[in-house]
Order: sequence, then structure tokens, then C-alpha cells
Amino acid sequence: MTLRLSLTLLLILLPAGIVFGAADGSWLENVPTHDHEKTNPYHDQADAIAAGRRIFVDRCSHCHGENAEGTKKRPPLKSERMQHGASEGDLHWLLVNGNMRKGMPSWARLPDQQLWQVITYLKSLHD
Ligand code: HEC
Repeated sequence: MTLRLSLTLLLILLPAGIVFGAADGSWLENVPTHDHEKTNPYHDQADAIAAGRRIFVDRCSHCHGENAEGTKKRPPLKSERMQHGASEGDLHWLLVNGNMRKGMPSWARLPDQQLWQVITYLKSLHD
């Protein structure tokens, strides 16, 4: 195989891997018990939902859709897994660590308060 052909194949296969591997929830298996059990200090608070919505629109909506409905290559955040499968602690762990192998960046640079606010917003969404 020529070098150019291999490079072309690599360019085609790399993004495909991200797409096909996306959103099977396998990240949940990596969350340590301590993080899984963390509680959200803003749980269900209306002002945190509003603040979280603004953060979501700014930082997350270009990948996850304006209303978390998902985009072509990125998962919706209104799913059964988001609402019931994942605890608020699980979501916090994912936001801090990201899942770069599958295209989800880390948000560790955001203050903890903002992470919990965006989690409060996500948990307020229903199908
Ligand atoms: C560059 C695109 C991108 C941005 C920006 C992004 N995400 Fe993601 N996100 C992804 C991808 C891709 C996945 C799927 C990862 C996987 O398969 O495990 C994902 C997965 C998730 C999941 C897990 C969904 C599930 O069903 O397993 C949550 C929760 C999440 N993102 C929240 C957020 C939040 C909150 C923000 C903004 C602070 C954000 N994401 C910004 C690409 C992005």
C-alpha cells in the first residue's frame, strides 16, 4: 500500500471510529464508587437550572444540540441513561475527566460550581 493511500484510509477511519464507538455508556464502568456517590449541592434548584442552561448553550450545544437532543455524531443528553442510569456524581466525574478517546472533552477547567449547575440543568430535561 502506498503511503498516500494509507494516510487517506487513516483519515477516513479515524473519525468513523469515533462515530461508531460513540455513546455506549461504557464510561460509567470507569467511575470510582467515591465519585459515583457524590451529591449535587444544587440538586433541583431552579436558579442552578437556569445558570446551567446558559453554560450548556455556551459550551456544549454545538456538539450535543441546542436542547441536548444530540447532533449527527454526538449523543443526546436526554436519554434514559442520562436521566436514570447515571448519578449526578457519575456526570460530574465525566465532566472532570472527559472521554477523549470517544470525543468528549474534559471540563476540568470550569469551576466546580458551573459543573454542578450544568448537571442540574441536564437532570431537569425529560424526553
Ligand atoms: C467536541 C464535542 C463535545 C463537546 C463540546 C461536549 N461534548 Fe459531551 N460528549 C461528546 C461525545 C462525542 C460524547 C460521547 C462519548 C462516549 O461515547 O462515551 C459525549 C458524551 C457526553 C455525556 C455522556 C452521554 C452518555 O449518554 O453516555 C455527557 C453527560 C456529556 N457529554 C456532557 C457534556 C457537557 C455538559 C458538555 C459541556 C460542558 C459537553 N458534553 C460538551 C462530545 C462533546
